[in-house]
Amino acid sequence: YTEEELYRPKFHFTPKQNWMNDPNGMFYLNGNYHLFFQHYPDSAVWGPMHWGHAISTDLVAWKEQPIALYPDEKGYIFSGSAVVDINNTSGFSSGSEKPVIAMFTYHDPKLEKEGKIDYQSQGIAYSLDEGITWAKYLGNPVIKNPGIKDFRDPKISWDTIHNQWVLVLAAGDKSMFYSSKNLKDWKYLSNFGKDIGAHGGVWECPDFFPMTVDGTNEIKWVLIQSIVSGGPNGGTGTQYFVGDFNGKSFILDPFFKKDLVNENVFWIDYGRDNYAGVTWSNMPEKDGRKLFLGWMSNWEYAEKVPTNKWRSSMTIVRELKLVKNDDHYRITSQPVKEINNYISKSIKKGDFNVEGETVLITKPELDFSSLDIHFKIKDLQKDIYTFSFFNAVGDSLKFGVNNKEKFFFLDRMKSGNISFSDKFAPIISIAPIKEELKNIDIRVLLDKTSIEIFYNNGKTVMTELFFPKKPIEAFSAKSENFNIEFEGMTINQLKFD
Ligand code: FRU
Repeated sequence: YTEEELYRPKFHFTPKQNWMNDPNGMFYLNGNYHLFFQHYPDSAVWGPMHWGHAISTDLVAWKEQPIALYPDEKGYIFSGSAVVDINNTSGFSSGSEKPVIAMFTYHDPKLEKEGKIDYQSQGIAYSLDEGITWAKYLGNPVIKNPGIKDFRDPKISWDTIHNQWVLVLAAGDKSMFYSSKNLKDWKYLSNFGKDIGAHGGVWECPDFFPMTVDGTNEIKWVLIQSIVSGGPNGGTGTQYFVGDFNGKSFILDPFFKKDLVNENVFWIDYGRDNYAGVTWSNMPEKDGRKLFLGWMSNWEYAEKVPTNKWRSSMTIVRELKLVKNDDHYRITSQPVKEINNYISKSIKKGDFNVEGETVLITKPELDFSSLDIHFKIKDLQKDIYTFSFFNAVGDSLKFGVNNKEKFFFLDRMKSGNISFSDKFAPIISIAPIKEELKNIDIRVLLDKTSIEIFYNNGKTVMTELFFPKKPIEAFSAKSENFNIEFEGMTINQLKFD
């Protein structure tokens, strides 16, 4: 097999060539979903950052575009966001075009080399052709460095509640909030997070937006905050907070605060490969979804994963929801529904029981390079339920539910090539189970080199990479002491060519 055949994902975005990290500047306009990304076009490892660009009309199939932003004398173009300035508050448009404004971090490598700490500031660029070509603003930087070493990743949104542009950026051990009327002049508002949440590394790539609590009219503000180390299973991870925003300060919801005191941190994803994720701006009001996508890697080994032509992919686009049960607010994630347009064949099984280790599906009935599997298990025992994707050369990717010790798990320790980094698969990954589980709902998206598992309608998510030596060929289920009682299973073959 060539690297391309074995490892290029079927339905997860990868750059044609070379390095990619964080998603940047996602916005929707006139039928197109835009995705920009941290990109080094000259090598398969991190280097002077550009913004690469891709467009999709359905959030699943992406077409890479020419590079949108190049580094310049002010520095590399680090992560940031983009908004559509419908009312031309910025004044960048003199005709009828709606300006798109991107804000990014200028990272000045010269100042960094000189040992200065003020080498990160925020700049803007604008596009008058819907995000294809960009001009940098001559008045950059629009937010100067205030003497903070890590000062980056601005995320802007239009705050319809307080009629202002609101911006959040990451500043080492906290998030900082700013507001503006014209996207050029920014006023510092407040900061959040010094003494709360996970602090195993610097904060990066925040996002901040209001959400309606699912099924109600209640509005809460959500702060998403990635963290470079100290993630749930090692390395990078993304936490979130739920609270209120009065136009100036973010204040944790009292119930959420109580949960946070008890549990310390809430993660968007408990797997190791979903980082720096943020949401789309300018979604049509009648759509109303909060769409999220992350970089499907982890800084602990991202530069070493065994692909050389390109390096890194993105997660599937996910719809976030804010749910509330007994005063507990939680974010859930689910794959976007557009993925259903790619089903080429669907196998439905009714209720069935299996004992011991049982192979459920195999090649050639299905092609394991792109599957969407959905099943439920009822009458869960205090037992271990293990599901496994495997091939004939001994690679197996295992996941499941340990209902004795109360955790979900994902085990890639024998999933193929893991030797490229001793950080890649030293132990299994787990996500705590905090409630009594009688039944469980499991949805799995499988691509050639990634698995995304959504437990209980996306209440707990685990996303990880794996690099089998040969393609996966079969799927099995196993429990130690009890029958597994399946309450239906749907296996969707996805097709993308
Ligand atoms: C997160 C990050 C950002 C930064 C970018 C640089 O992965 O470190 O904080 O802007 O990557 O590529």
